[in-house]
Amino acid sequence: MVNNMNDEKFTLIAPCHFGLEAVLKREITDLGYEILNVSDGRVTFSGDAKAIARANIFIRTAERILLKCGSFRATTFDDLFEGVKAIPWERFLPRNAKFWVTKATTNRSALFSGTAIQSIVKKAMVDRMSTTYHTSRFDEDGDEYPVRVFILKDEVEVTLDTTGVSLHKRGYRKLAGKAPISETLAAALIMLTPWRADRILVDPFCGSGTFPIEAAMIGANIAPGLNREFTSDKWLKFMTKKEWYEAYDEAASLEKTDIEMNIQGYDIDPEIIKCAIQNSKEAGVDKYIHFQARDVKDLHNPKPYGFLITNPPYGERLEDKENLPALYKTIGDSYNGLKDWSMFIITSYEDAERYLGRKADKNRKIYNGMIRSYFLSYMGAKPPKKQK
Ligand SMILES: C[S@@+](CC[C@H](N)C(=O)[O-])C[C@H]1O[C@@H](n2cnc3c(N)ncnc32)[C@H](O)[C@@H]1O
Repeated sequence: MVNNMNDEKFTLIAPCHFGLEAVLKREITDLGYEILNVSDGRVTFSGDAKAIARANIFIRTAERILLKCGSFRATTFDDLFEGVKAIPWERFLPRNAKFWVTKATTNRSALFSGTAIQSIVKKAMVDRMSTTYHTSRFDEDGDEYPVRVFILKDEVEVTLDTTGVSLHKRGYRKLAGKAPISETLAAALIMLTPWRADRILVDPFCGSGTFPIEAAMIGANIAPGLNREFTSDKWLKFMTKKEWYEAYDEAASLEKTDIEMNIQGYDIDPEIIKCAIQNSKEAGVDKYIHFQARDVKDLHNPKPYGFLITNPPYGERLEDKENLPALYKTIGDSYNGLKDWSMFIITSYEDAERYLGRKADKNRKIYNGMIRSYFLSYMGAKPPKKQK
C-alpha cells in the first residue's frame, strides 16, 4: 500500500513557561492530538503534517513547536556525530536547504560545550546529506531549517524548529512599556482562571495592553497565529501548502464576530495607554476593549462578579521597591470596593499578599522568564444561575 505522505505521524515538542504545562496540555488535547509526555517546561505530542500548521496557528501558550528528528545516547563527540548522521535528514531537508544549529542546550551531561555541539551536529548533517544527495557542495540558498539540540543526562534530542520567531510574537505588539508580560504567559494565566467572555475583565495596570488583548482574542476565538508567518510554512519536503491553507481557513471560520465583551484596561501612564490602543487595533480587537489612563486608587465598578487580572509593578527598578507596600495596599483597598469580584495577580513581589491585606486562595509558582513569580488567586462569588 502506498503510504500517503500526509498521514505520516511525527513527534512534536512544545516548550512553555515552567508551571504552565497543564494549560498547554489542555490546548493540545483540545486540538485533538495525543499527548506523549509532559515534563518541566515542555509537552510532547503526536501529530501529522497538518498538526504542525495547526499547532503553530492555534496554540496560545507554547513558545514554539519543534519537530523531533531523532534521539540517541551520546557521551562523546563521536557518539554525537554518528547519532546525528544516522538521522534520515533527506526526509526533512531539500538539497538547497539553509540549515544550522540555532541552539544547543545541555544539562547534567558529559557533552557540555554548546558551540562544539553545534559545530559537530552541522558537520554530521552535511556528511549525511553528501551521501544521500551525492554532492559535497551545498549552496544553502533555499528555505530555512533551524535545528535545536537538547542533551539531558546524555540523552540527545535533535529537532527542527517549525516556528522561527517565537510564538509569543503574535504580530500585534509593535509598542511596549518597560516590563511587558509575554503574550503566551498572559494567555496561559487568563486560561488558568475561570474567566469567560460573558464576565467583566479589568486590568488596572495594563501597560501595553497584553492581558486585555489576549482576553479579547480568547473571547472572540481569534487564533494567535492568524496574522504571522512560520519557518515551516515554506517547507515542502514532508508537508505541503495545503495543510497551511486548511489550518488558516479553519482558524478564520472559528472567529466569533457577533460577540459582546466588557474588557477594560487602565494604567497611570497616558502614553502607554496610547500604545495599548494601537496594539489592540493591530490585533483587531479594539472594539472589545475600553482603554483609559487611570490610577489604581480610582478603580471602581458598580457591577458585581467581575475579574481583575493583572501584573502590577513588582519593583523592577530598585528605586520603585520602596513604593510597593503602599501600592499593594491600594490594590487591596480598590479590590475590597468591588462587589463579589475575583482577582488574579502575577507578581514577583514576595510581600504581595501581606500588603494586599489578605492571603490568596491559591498561590501558584510560575517562572516569568528567569524571574520566580507568584500567581495569586482571590476567588469571588459566582453569579447566581440564570432561571430557565
Ligand atoms: C509590570 S507593568 C504592566 C505591563 C503590562 N502587563 C504589559 O504587558 O505591558 C506595570 C504597569 O503599572 C503601571 N502603574 C504603576 N503605578 C500605577 C498606578 N498607581 N495605577 C495604575 N497603573 C500604574 C505602570 O505605568 C506600568 O505600565
